[in-house]
Amino acid sequence: MMKKYNAKSVALLGLLSDGKTHDGNVLGEQLGITRSAVWKMCQKLQGLGVDLHSVKGKGYVLNTPIILLDPERIQAGIQSPVRVSVFESLDSTNDYLLANRTRTGIEVCLAEMQTAGRGRLGRPWVSPFSENIYFSCRYPFQKDISELAGLSLVVSLSIVAALKGVGAGDALSVKWPNDVVCEAGKLSGTLIELRAESNGHCEAVIGIGMNVNMDATGAIDQAWTSLRQRSGCYHDRNSIVIALANQLFDDLAQFQREGLSAFLSRWNALDFYRGKPVTVLHANTSFTGLAQGVNEHGHLLLELPGGGVKAFASGDASLKK
Ligand code: BTN
Repeated sequence: MMKKYNAKSVALLGLLSDGKTHDGNVLGEQLGITRSAVWKMCQKLQGLGVDLHSVKGKGYVLNTPIILLDPERIQAGIQSPVRVSVFESLDSTNDYLLANRTRTGIEVCLAEMQTAGRGRLGRPWVSPFSENIYFSCRYPFQKDISELAGLSLVVSLSIVAALKGVGAGDALSVKWPNDVVCEAGKLSGTLIELRAESNGHCEAVIGIGMNVNMDATGAIDQAWTSLRQRSGCYHDRNSIVIALANQLFDDLAQFQREGLSAFLSRWNALDFYRGKPVTVLHANTSFTGLAQGVNEHGHLLLELPGGGVKAFASGDASLKK
């Protein structure tokens, strides 16, 4: 399912964001649409779960503040030459970029909700309307696919740096291979899908899911948190997306030039597992040992009880229970 983004919805919710009751006719005049078009838009937003109500004879009121993604603001805020597409709803922003390769260069895709958001290892990614960030970018690398082993680590570092830049990055850690976490649980995850080119280069579709304003859901089967739960405040996702994209594209350019070695000190400073007992499930076998950071390929190093250090290129890692 793919739904085009309606910029008038951004404007409508902007007008309603003062929490006052607004007359439907006046809203229509302000937006350059009819009163019945305002009514239809409000119905649709209500159906998507927006806390918007009609007050008989008076108009519409927004009970909980909500700021939608603003495609123009995001496009203008990103310093690299990228094309940004924002959708009201997609199956998955990664799937959209994988299926629609209409141009070369960097492309960014965002959606207000995903109906089939995907996580690592075939897990679903819970993606309610307007609450979180569902961000994917297609990034061309002048590298062989085998040189991208540490890419998910770089992306996690970019997420933390971007959140620090907007004042929301305190006490965050990076968890091998693709999570950003704090003590309360997981804040964001990354799903990377690679495609080799015939010229020996490759491109990556990098998908980032970040819990921003989500406050409650019964659908997640692991400890999670959101920026709102951490700060108690509603966050404007537009500023976070812009900070994230700018940090990410700076870091990816550096990764392209210098490889993972340029990021290892940043990783070591934020490594959640370092020095802790960790279990890795790899190829149906479980290994437990003391985490010793990552090597120059981004592989997790476990010091095993019988002696020796084993490196894991992939696997499902968790703290030893
Ligand atoms: C994980 O931690 O398992 C990875 C989660 C990745 C979720 C993001 S949301 C945007 C992009 N689209 C998807 O379908 N998945 C990624």
